[in-house]
Amino acid sequence: MSSTKLLCSCLFLLVVLTAYTQACGKRNSNDDKPSTGSGSGSGSGSGSSNSSGPMINACCQCGQAMDLSLVVNNQIQEPFFEFRTEIKGVRQRELIYQLEAASNKDKRFRFSLKHFGSMGYLITTMNDLVASDANKTYWHIVSQPQGNNLFQSLPLGISSYMPAHNEVVMFNFSSWATSSH
Ligand SMILES: *[C@@H]1O[C@H](CO)[C@@H](O)[C@H](O)[C@H]1NC(C)=O
Ligand SMILES: *[C@@H]1O[C@H](CO)[C@@H](O)[C@H](O)[C@H]1NC(C)=O
Ligand SMILES: *[C@@H]1O[C@H](CO)[C@@H](O)[C@H](O)[C@H]1NC(C)=O
Repeated sequence: MSSTKLLCSCLFLLVVLTAYTQACGKRNSNDDKPSTGSGSGSGSGSGSSNSSGPMINACCQCGQAMDLSLVVNNQIQEPFFEFRTEIKGVRQRELIYQLEAASNKDKRFRFSLKHFGSMGYLITTMNDLVASDANKTYWHIVSQPQGNNLFQSLPLGISSYMPAHNEVVMFNFSSWATSSH
């Protein structure tokens, strides 16, 4: 029953997000239009001149407030570590922004990224531990979308993936050396 409820709220959220996206797109296209003034008119516009001026697009602040747990785990290269950062009351946004929020809150949560064109950003270091081709290591991102189910790999990268309320996202230092044999 509760999973049906959750599904419903997920669908609702999806609809809301879609609506926001469309609203943002609409607003952007309005911004692109030239002002409505027709040549010889006097300076006293109808007030629409304000909306055609430069405007801060605040759509990215529109997501629901939510809580999120971020776990950083390394059990394959010494010194081992694992820590968890809870961020509360953040707006729902792509994971990359939640990384920023966690980093602002928790000094251990240092990270660096590299941009790979259309793939967006990939994590190169967390807590100063470098993912390295030489060692065949990488930062594997897994999550528990409902907070208590099995960890599974993210379907999207950090630039696109949007965690949900109460989700647990783990950055798990991993090696591809063993898994390929
Ligand atoms: C609209 O633009 C006018 C002229 O630039 C300005 O005086 C006025 O304060 C603006 N109104 C708003 C709500 O920004
Ligand atoms: C590769 O692994 C070794 C041993 O765990 C470590 O000392 C070294 O710093 C790693 N290399 C890189 C580039 O991270
Ligand atoms: C994290 O990585 C370690 C080492 O590869 C692995 O044993 C463990 O199962 C992983 N944990 C999760 C939740 O994926």
